[in-house]
Amino acid sequence: MAIYEDFGEEYIAERLASTEQNEEESEVEVSLRPQTLDDFTGQTAVKEQLRIAIDAAKIRGEALEHVLLFGPPGLGKTTLSQIIANEMGTNIQITSGPAIEKSGDLLALLTNLSTGDVLFIDEIHRLPKTLVEMLYSAMEDKVVDIFIGSGPSARSIRMSLKSFTLIGATTRAGQLSQPLRARFGHVLRLDLYTPEELSQIIKRSAGILNIEIDDDGAMELASRSRGTPRIANRLLRRVRDYAQIKGDGTINKEITKYALQKLDIDSLGLDSIDRRMLTTIIKFYGGGPVGMNTLAATIGEEAITLEDVYEPYLLQIGFISRTTRGRCCTYLAYEHLGIPMNKDDKKNGQISAFDGEDI
Ligand SMILES: Nc1ncnc2c1ncn2[C@@H]1O[C@H](COP(=O)(O)OP(=O)(O)O)[C@@H](O)[C@H]1O
Ligand SMILES: [Mg+2]
Repeated sequence: MAIYEDFGEEYIAERLASTEQNEEESEVEVSLRPQTLDDFTGQTAVKEQLRIAIDAAKIRGEALEHVLLFGPPGLGKTTLSQIIANEMGTNIQITSGPAIEKSGDLLALLTNLSTGDVLFIDEIHRLPKTLVEMLYSAMEDKVVDIFIGSGPSARSIRMSLKSFTLIGATTRAGQLSQPLRARFGHVLRLDLYTPEELSQIIKRSAGILNIEIDDDGAMELASRSRGTPRIANRLLRRVRDYAQIKGDGTINKEITKYALQKLDIDSLGLDSIDRRMLTTIIKFYGGGPVGMNTLAATIGEEAITLEDVYEPYLLQIGFISRTTRGRCCTYLAYEHLGIPMNKDDKKNGQISAFDGEDI
């Protein structure tokens, strides 16, 4: 497709800033996961709410109320669910929406839970609708109804379950049905981390992985990690390689800058896809507004990926705005990319950048 030519090599550059996981990484991630709430950096409000709820449930000797964790990938949803089970002193069963296909699968998971256990369903918004309905009664009344046979001889059997805690994680809380959302006692939203918090996380990870890093190096890395611990940990390991080959093994500010430039990650942590999103809005759509689906089709990415993975950080740093008519680039994005803003762009992007509600 001709319009990609502009982007050349960038288009195939490794997606270092992606928040998705690969396999090699999963293993390292396990070793980097904090085990307790105290060890979990940032997300103060979420931690406070959980601390009180966990302590209270333990005093009463009850299972913790169901918890919904939502927010962009890589912010600690899976980690927190394991911490919750750990702090409650219970077992955790881990599964995900797309992994549960049949009602029998969900039934088996539910009936295998012991009193107080945690059932963690990742990507709960992708659980098939019929199974979500099964969850309603399981969550509310600790029962599931199983239907046997068909036609006039059909009957249902009611099975009771032990008290359990469902922890659902999702990047898209808006896609959950209202009755499902309503059954969670705690609905907790994870936000992007500040560079200071990420710097702490980076230093902690460096300690575990035996990597030497100084304060300036940690801060430089933190401010380029898009508010996301998973990315911070990933960049830490990539920069370590450079520190060992090109430096004396210690990660400092200088080697971080050098490495990230080689990895095509800019001063704010934007990668080629971020930049492609922004330049496309500017060059093809006069700064916006442009609908997410149109934008995604133009750059050949999935709209869901752009929306869940890339957009949150661009919104946070004020580079794009969401309006009723679509996405716009703000002048900050023009400035960062060094693209002058012409009159038409101002008319499109700038005016609409401030006039709309979220869609
Ligand atoms: N608050 C935190 N403190 C320290 N490390 C964190 C924190 N949040 C996430 N991490 C690290 O980031 C990585 C990704 O976290 P994860 O829980 O898998 O994210 P999610 O499930 O939201 O995609 C893990 O290796 C974890 O150790
Ligand atoms: Mg996860």
